Amino acid sequence: MTLLVEGISTGYGETQVLYDVSLRTEDRSLTVMVGPNGAGKSTTLRTITGLQRVWRGRVGFDGNDITSLPAFARVELGMASAPEGRRLFPLS
Ligand SMILES: Nc1ncnc2c1ncn2[C@@H]1O[C@H](COP(=O)(O)OP(=O)(O)O)[C@@H](O)[C@H]1O
Ligand SMILES: [Mg+2]
Repeated sequence: MTLLVEGISTGYGETQVLYDVSLRTEDRSLTVMVGPNGAGKSTTLRTITGLQRVWRGRVGFDGNDITSLPAFARVELGMASAPEGRRLFPLS
């Protein structure tokens, strides 16, 4: 599965949070996004999974443009999100 994010911009209300964000993942690979609190990591993931509306740019998944697909339709394509921080994974 390949994910292609091209020039994404979005935000909350009138406040822009992401400015022209692009990334690409390769099949059978692990991609890590690192940044300080408030950098926009969660907003980027919300955009990829369809929970956040895109202002500009596009999201591609396995060669298909999914920018305007609702979140549930992205799940049906095999996209899933497992957020940490809510005791989802036991520590021991
Ligand atoms: N629901 C929201 N409403 C308004 N601003 C938000 C909301 N969620 C995040 N932000 C703001 O967007 C910016 C990026 O936040 P976020 O994507 O959560 O960053 P990270 O996950 O890297 O810590 C921050 O300035 C944060 O305050
Ligand atoms: Mg976060």
